[in-house]
Amino acid sequence: MAPQRHLKQLFTAGLLLTGAFANPLHKRTDDDEDDDTPLPVVIWHGLGDNYANQGLRTVGELVEAVNPGTLVYYIRMADDANSDQSATFFGNLTDHIAKACTDIAAHPILSTAPAIDAVGFSQGGQFLRAYVQRCNNPPVRSLVTFGSQHNGITAFKECATTDWICRGAMALLKGGTWSNFVQSRLVPAQYFRDPTQYDKYLEHSNFLADINNERPFKNQTYKENIAKLKNLVLYMFADDTTAVPKESAFFEEVNGTEIIPLRARKLYSEDWIGLRELDRAGGLTMRTIPGEHMRLTDKVLNETFAEFFGPLKLKKADKRPTHLGDGDL
Ligand SMILES: *[C@@H]1O[C@H](CO)[C@@H](O)[C@H](O)[C@H]1NC(C)=O
Ligand SMILES: *[C@@H]1O[C@H](CO)[C@@H](O)[C@H](O)[C@H]1NC(C)=O
Ligand SMILES: *[C@@H]1O[C@H](CO)[C@@H](O)[C@H](O)[C@H]1NC(C)=O
Ligand SMILES: *[C@@H]1O[C@H](CO)[C@@H](O)[C@H](O)[C@H]1NC(C)=O
Repeated sequence: MAPQRHLKQLFTAGLLLTGAFANPLHKRTDDDEDDDTPLPVVIWHGLGDNYANQGLRTVGELVEAVNPGTLVYYIRMADDANSDQSATFFGNLTDHIAKACTDIAAHPILSTAPAIDAVGFSQGGQFLRAYVQRCNNPPVRSLVTFGSQHNGITAFKECATTDWICRGAMALLKGGTWSNFVQSRLVPAQYFRDPTQYDKYLEHSNFLADINNERPFKNQTYKENIAKLKNLVLYMFADDTTAVPKESAFFEEVNGTEIIPLRARKLYSEDWIGLRELDRAGGLTMRTIPGEHMRLTDKVLNETFAEFFGPLKLKKADKRPTHLGDGDL
């Protein structure tokens, strides 16, 4: 990295603190294309985690190290870390997504950015996708998800014997996965999707059946918003035994022993949520990385942040053949 560029970044970092995006007139103009300020990044953590966790903060530090000057925002359901952790198990996801939307739209810097980037860990990945589909204000440019359950889970997590929040949550299941009581209170039940109970899922799922547009009525906004992404980057952990099935990270359906790839599914061929359109525009990336659920290396994180995050004008876009003339589209 040239020293000059580095100085500029330090400078823009200072600007960010005083609100580089604070002028609404500056929003979504051509000027932004030449702006070196990295887009802000929002991070949504996974089940059993909380927004103040040191491990999560380390990820935020990597984002800032790779693209100096990046504002990082950690999505939370409560300012108190224990309550935020408990909300990864309990609550109605419709309300959770709405809260994330409200908080992001009200944030003084995020709300005036021309776009934001987003990274979701495990269930935080499908929740950020719901943010894009339902709100997208400010709009997401690149959404990266690690080991997320985009096509749901067919088994519930086993809790450690001393994990009382988890055990308390799972005790709720006694009421039955599909009861309104459980669907409005137990977070993982809202993305439980077993192909052998598909009718019950379609009827009762409080979250996944809706955001995947699996019911007869297809919300066109959901589709348009996914298609508007510049990048949707899906990572699957090759040795994941925590999220069942692990292929859910790629929107694949596991039916018995058969794995149906995304591109062979109706969700894709009928383009229920814009994935096919995004794919044809070159915006869908699927990558497998070694290891168990969430065993992430700094190397993978660094490379991902360098490739998909940063200033509005991505380095990646610069490499495209110029004769296409589609620049930043
Ligand atoms: C479709 O989703 C958008 C975004 O959440 C929402 O505003 C709209 O009401 C939905 N449309 C219908 C018909 O439910
Ligand atoms: C979840 O909350 C939404 C909005 O508050 C509500 O419409 C819906 O009925 C709730 N879901 C269940 C299963 O109670
Ligand atoms: C697999 O999917 C097909 C078609 O959706 C269905 O008919 C069949 O029963 C499923 N098999 C299992 C084991 O769920
Ligand atoms: C990740 O990037 C940061 C900042 O550029 C650097 O300090 C760190 O050594 C990198 N780590 C790896 C494993 O590449």
